[in-house]
Amino acid sequence: MRIDIVTVVPEILRSPFEASILRRAIDKGLVEIHLHNLRDYTTDNYKQVDDYQFGGGSGMVMMIEPIDKCLSELKAQRDYDEIIYMTPDGETLKQGMANELSLKKNLIVLCGHYKGVDQRVRDHFITREISIGDYVLSGGELGAAVLCDSIIRLIPGVLGNETSALTDSFQDNLLAPPIYTRPAEYKGWKVPEILTSGNTPKIEQWREDQAYKRTKLLRPDLLEDEN
Ligand code: ADE
Repeated sequence: MRIDIVTVVPEILRSPFEASILRRAIDKGLVEIHLHNLRDYTTDNYKQVDDYQFGGGSGMVMMIEPIDKCLSELKAQRDYDEIIYMTPDGETLKQGMANELSLKKNLIVLCGHYKGVDQRVRDHFITREISIGDYVLSGGELGAAVLCDSIIRLIPGVLGNETSALTDSFQDNLLAPPIYTRPAEYKGWKVPEILTSGNTPKIEQWREDQAYKRTKLLRPDLLEDEN
């Protein structure tokens, strides 16, 4: 998979891909991340990427020209499955969406800044608009990092068996059951006996029951949702 991230502040996006699982995925050749600085696609001396809104109003708007130049150059080189715009008014990111996007080959992620991008960018280039939650960030970069992390960890070979994505919370619309490791007793606090019984079918049943109970208590909405 290849992900091209288009941004005015590429610095924000360097560290998430330089550490941990994401770095390992890149090193293994399972994913390529390319950061593109929109200022490199400007033609004026000031490298201007934003301007005042037509009709007045506070806040700057990202101009269409540098975005067009960058996206058109990328699109001329390969076919993209989706051109995603990170924005608080997009569709909220859910596990199902991450699953779906993890199967794609080439993605572009455009990060908004200031008030956002000129509407014509959204009308003519963007195929999908994604929000990471109902709050406003100062730019789309942290959202893009969250989105990429949720996608990349699902690519086969990125996670070892020991951290299988299949038992994550939200796969099957259930929260994950409680987990424990050694010691079996700490300061008198014991691990549930079933987990040390060696009875695998019973353990599986217990985990399922716990996942359901937790979901019912903490996120009953997940039991009604279909996504
Ligand atoms: N940009 C600003 N806020 C955002 C959000 N909640 N999700 C994605 N991109 C954003």
